[in-house]
Amino acid sequence: ARHLLGIEPLHPVEIATLLDLADTYVDLNRQAVKQSDALKGLTQINMFFEASTRTQASFELAGKRLGADVMNMAMQASSIKKGETLIDTALTLNAMHPDLLVVRHPHSGAVDLLAQKVNCAVLNAGDGRHEHPTQALLDALTIRRAKGRLHRLNIAICGDIAHSRVARSNILLLGKMENRVRLIGPPTLMPSEVRDLGVEVYDDMREGLTGCDVVMMLRLQKERMDGGFIPSEREYYHRYGLDPEKLAFAKDDAIVMHPGPMNRGVEIDGILADDINRSVIQEQVEMGVAVRMAAMDLLARNLAAARQEGAA
Ligand code: CP
Repeated sequence: ARHLLGIEPLHPVEIATLLDLADTYVDLNRQAVKQSDALKGLTQINMFFEASTRTQASFELAGKRLGADVMNMAMQASSIKKGETLIDTALTLNAMHPDLLVVRHPHSGAVDLLAQKVNCAVLNAGDGRHEHPTQALLDALTIRRAKGRLHRLNIAICGDIAHSRVARSNILLLGKMENRVRLIGPPTLMPSEVRDLGVEVYDDMREGLTGCDVVMMLRLQKERMDGGFIPSEREYYHRYGLDPEKLAFAKDDAIVMHPGPMNRGVEIDGILADDINRSVIQEQVEMGVAVRMAAMDLLARNLAAARQEGAA
């Protein structure tokens, strides 16, 4: 593929190939000297139209560790502020011949639209409530390393599913890899198309967590609630916040995940989030660098092949 816009078009073999390559980058990343030259001579531009800590930092590090020239566009200080459109901004940057564009945007579909206008590889770093493919891939790598496999697992995704691109990409990926996915949360925070997703739905944490191998918690995404119903944090934590008492319904060796940013005491107990015997939240962050290295490496190889074909 030329771009990484979502999990939806990926074949399970492509997912496994990317995770295998990412595994090798975990090792490289842990070495004292981390440099590889897989992206040497290539230019990577990061365009984040929405706040980010983990995704932006890990894409920047991933590019640098593979030898790319990395530029972070300060979108808040760009000509977008003077009324320039997303597409005109993309065309302007495209004229400077980047090889990889990493884009986060608050509107679903914006990154796909941009990808149609440029002739470099585009990676979706999260678009609205649509997809966050590298997050699902790093979650998959974390699960595979913790559980020794990425199939036939019972995986609960809990909380604000309706507004979550992380949930959507994970539902797609984990389903393709033949896992049993359960969504747990208040009916007001379930997407309307939930019945078409091939998942089981619960509004009771204890019932939904029973027998689970993996428990993935999500943040209440108030910025996407558009003035709709926002539950009280106290009531929400009581019913849906993950604490040791609710986690006890999952398997004894169930792992606890959270994509971050985390709101301690709202969707997850802070002590549980820090419990290295149960929580793999820091491993998720570490896998983020490796997965983004692998994704950019594979797209760069495809780009080189397409350019060579074009020149022939
Ligand atoms: N998980 C995630 O996308 O985090 P950031 O918003 O900090 O990038």
